[in-house]
Amino acid sequence: MFKVLVSDYISEAGIEILEKEAEVYFNHQLSREEFLDIVGDYDGIIIRSFTRLDKEALNKAEKLKVIGRAGTGYDNIDLEEASKKGVVVFNTPTGNTISAAEHTIALLLSLSRNIPQANNALHNGIWDRKKYNGTEVRDKTLGIIGLGRIGSYVAQFAQGLGMKVIANDPYLAPEKAENLNVPLLDFEEVLQKSDYISLHTPLTDETFHILSHKEFATMKDDVRVLNVARGKNLDTEALVAALKSGKVAGAGIDVFEEEPIDENHPYFKYSDKVVVTCHLGGTTTEAMDNVSIAAAEQVLSVLKNGGLPES
Ligand code: MLT
Repeated sequence: MFKVLVSDYISEAGIEILEKEAEVYFNHQLSREEFLDIVGDYDGIIIRSFTRLDKEALNKAEKLKVIGRAGTGYDNIDLEEASKKGVVVFNTPTGNTISAAEHTIALLLSLSRNIPQANNALHNGIWDRKKYNGTEVRDKTLGIIGLGRIGSYVAQFAQGLGMKVIANDPYLAPEKAENLNVPLLDFEEVLQKSDYISLHTPLTDETFHILSHKEFATMKDDVRVLNVARGKNLDTEALVAALKSGKVAGAGIDVFEEEPIDENHPYFKYSDKVVVTCHLGGTTTEAMDNVSIAAAEQVLSVLKNGGLPES
């Protein structure tokens, strides 16, 4: 029987599929050392964004034939090394698109109406309608950086709220943006024109700190910034400086440069302006089932037939 290690949290639906045809070890609380000790025993691995399959881990994974990424981003996998070793790597990019897009809109509205702050205050007995005065989103401009799958849904949801949506995406075919009724502009122009800026790029050398000091300086005063993509796309120090100077009116952040974070994170000095969640973009019952089932089926297919199932 094939042996499959599931070292990040995925839904039971995928585990049940795997268990029909493989010996499965599901443990999402392994330390790095424990993971490195056992990784050599497995033919297949399923991970989300927490487990790091870097060169060190791949060198120990002597029997490994397939890595299933239950989710979208590949930034925790050394793809070059995996390819050198002939390990098949796939992701399940469609399963959590809607959840990530909805989470972005949830943060956008939370920020605009101070919902978490007012909720916290009221739980502590403070009724303050003046302090938590908000702002409407209708007719405001949302600038989307990265108009791929998730960015496209964010654009449509925001248009549904009456927002004007513009975007930058050097890799997108112009017809796709036209179909969405979203003008594609230069990166700088998007920064200059937007009341809200939302990041939806993968993490690559090109997108590392795509928003840093220079970009914040280019933005409108009182801009609001959202990141439900990858923590390292946003320069934390630059955002903190922009919150401190008052340039940025608010930030909705789901992902961080290092995860997990604790209560000492610099954003918490600006709790009135920053709404945070713990990398929950893809964490809904629907998305978790989708990515877990797809990853399980595809890992089994590679192990049994040497390739991914035909879609
Ligand atoms: C993803 O890349 O799909 C998301 O970050 C969700 C996750 O895997 O944790």
